[in-house]
Amino acid sequence: MDLLALPLNVEERLREASHVVAFSGAGLSAESGLGTFRGADGLWTQFRPEELASPEGFSRHPSRVWDWYLSRYRAIAAADPNPGHRAIASWAPRFPSLTIVTQNIDGLHQRAGSDDVLELHGSLLRARCSRCDRPLPMAEVVGWPGSPPACDDCGGKLRPDVVWFGEILPEEVLAAAIAGTEESDVFVAVGTSATVYPAAGLIELAYRQRALVIEINPEETTLSSLAGLCLRGPAGQELPRLTEAIERCRSAPR
Ligand code: OAD
Repeated sequence: MDLLALPLNVEERLREASHVVAFSGAGLSAESGLGTFRGADGLWTQFRPEELASPEGFSRHPSRVWDWYLSRYRAIAAADPNPGHRAIASWAPRFPSLTIVTQNIDGLHQRAGSDDVLELHGSLLRARCSRCDRPLPMAEVVGWPGSPPACDDCGGKLRPDVVWFGEILPEEVLAAAIAGTEESDVFVAVGTSATVYPAAGLIELAYRQRALVIEINPEETTLSSLAGLCLRGPAGQELPRLTEAIERCRSAPR
């Protein structure tokens, strides 16, 4: 691994940082073999989000929506966390406080060893009843008959426990993400196109709060101009490099 040379002001901010936020999007899991949404091969270039990721789409074609999420669940279950997820997991003991916020629904941060991950868009590791809201582990219901299977409490249709377009983000999760961002002195946005709100608004909030924003993305995004440091490479490469630089500057004598 070639060493990351940081500008002096960035090194200083990382050395002094007491509250760090890691904010992730689909690009973080790309090297685990899971697709992103936008870009050349993105899921939303092959499928229409309003058909597959909206309450209206589910009412019209419940079976199509359920089967699509089931195939994504199977891909997630077969995937492993990559060095990017593991690098973020290794930050917990390095900073007095770390908040991990993700738009991903794949549970790979947790499988890499991170606790208390704020999942803004829910989790595909859970299903819930669209009528009574009862949550169930997806691993339990994949074998149930029916597409979608019926809730065994009320008979309602099960749906993935994810946030669809037109739905409200889980209130407490969003509030915790905002609170973490307000406290942050370093905010690392990795693998997100920064186009979906309110999630992307966290980057703007961090910038307004004068946190150092670090963007990790092979491509420029609409919010790149807010970043004090852009690492233009894949997360699985840049996060370990950044972690090594963090270790170097935080262990150096002051
Ligand atoms: P996008 O697909 O919009 O963006 C993925 C970003 O990851 C792009 O900017 C890529 O350049 C970048 N990328 C690709 N490979 C990468 C790699 N190896 N390392 C680092 N970055 C890489 O995904 P999100 O920003 O997560 O919401 O999308 C946000 C939301 O839009 C999703 O949570 C989902 C989607 O519709 C819902 O379904 C509600």
